[in-house]
Amino acid sequence: MQEKILEAKNIIEESPSLAVLTGAGISAESGIPTFRGSDGLWKNYSPQQLASPNAFKKDPKLVWEWYDWRRQIIDKATPNPGHTALARIEAEKEKFTLITQNIDGLHQKAGSQNIIQLHGSIWEIKCTECGTTETNYEVPIGALPPVCNNCSGIMRPGTVWFGEIIPMSIIDKTILSIEESEVMIIIGTSGVVEPAASMGLMAKQSGKKVIEINLEQTPNSSLYDVFIQAKSGETLPLFYKIDEIYN
Ligand code: OAD
Repeated sequence: MQEKILEAKNIIEESPSLAVLTGAGISAESGIPTFRGSDGLWKNYSPQQLASPNAFKKDPKLVWEWYDWRRQIIDKATPNPGHTALARIEAEKEKFTLITQNIDGLHQKAGSQNIIQLHGSIWEIKCTECGTTETNYEVPIGALPPVCNNCSGIMRPGTVWFGEIIPMSIIDKTILSIEESEVMIIIGTSGVVEPAASMGLMAKQSGKKVIEINLEQTPNSSLYDVFIQAKSGETLPLFYKIDEIYN
């Protein structure tokens, strides 16, 4: 394991430009359940059964109960050493983009600057009738579903759901950031939800070095340059602390 960490550390140190992709695993050590882990199921529903326009149409209160539960957990969570390490690495690089599927805002809290939120933010809500959007930090959010101050329509979470399209401008920015980076690090994502699932392969095919950190093998782990099977909160700080630890 030490060898792999050293290999990854050298690749990262030598590259002036980095693109990083994160998923729910990076926030697991902050106490936020992942989606596909054993603690990730809420009342036995899978994320696909709740995070979709159809699910919301059928039962907005149920979907909101799930979001309200997650907002309460996220509200109490603080960044862990994995989030903090990424902010510190960013400060040392000429070019650094943090692409995240997470909607929890912990990268921002840790001090990361150049962030692309592929799936939006759990603190944004929007009206299903008039489209008004609002930043809302109320925890719990009150009567469910919340209604629009403007037109009394039902408000929905402003996040991107299954069956919905991530805005083209965000996809373009993401692809450009991968193209402009020499190295990509993929952290704590199961690699089964598109478009994020294909980003590591996209980077590989464009000749980038790809490093993955995950507790488990994912569908593309064997195709990447370095796969480190470990917790991100324990691994990422080693990229700058390992000299102090092992010398
Ligand atoms: P998942 O729950 O699918 O995967 C979490 C990954 O993190 C798994 O591969 C775990 O092995 C890994 N993991 C857990 N703890 C870890 C730790 N401490 N260190 C490193 N790795 C760890 O979450 P995502 O891949 O983020 O989308 O899920 C992708 C999307 O599916 C989400 O953004 C969400 C979900 O449904 C929508 O809601 C649209």
